[in-house]
Amino acid sequence: MASILILVGTESGNAQMVADALQPVLKGAGHAVNVSDAAASAADFLGNDVLLVVCATHGAGDIPTNILPLAEALERDHPDLSGHRYGIIALGDMTYQDTFCGAGKKLDDIFASCGAKRIGERLEVDASEQPLPDEEALTWIEGWKTLV
Ligand SMILES: Cc1cc2nc3c(=O)[nH]c(=O)nc-3n(C[C@H](O)[C@H](O)[C@H](O)COP(=O)(O)O)c2cc1C
Repeated sequence: MASILILVGTESGNAQMVADALQPVLKGAGHAVNVSDAAASAADFLGNDVLLVVCATHGAGDIPTNILPLAEALERDHPDLSGHRYGIIALGDMTYQDTFCGAGKKLDDIFASCGAKRIGERLEVDASEQPLPDEEALTWIEGWKTLV
């Protein structure tokens, strides 16, 4: 069983709501699961073998301020994350067509560029179609958890 850290990037709480909904599901699958919206460097998550990034997009494709220090640290320091696996849930809104889920996509690229291996496909939740992102995430996690 894995030690999973759910990393939250949020401005207005939807990503936190998704993380809080997924934590008991992953615990129920036998994993040790914590949630953090305050990780600022790789040192804050290296004790976990699996990361699940749940990240909204704000501004024009921008990473939420709470998780921006982590993104910048990973881009700058480029730590070796080849021993880590990760999943991505990107929250966005197709109204912002050109920057749809831009932050989740950026974080996906950043973790991959540090050598981490993605588990499954990235989930992209469109708020213009799905007002309840936790419902879509709860469906997606059923497949994802079998791959961990
Ligand atoms: C000011 C603002 C800017 C946004 N910009 C984008 C964007 O560029 N791309 C996108 O896909 N979604 C964008 N969104 C939609 C949010 O990502 C979406 O509503 C998400 O569910 C918010 O999650 P949060 O409550 O965790 O912050 C924006 C929302 C707001 C309020």
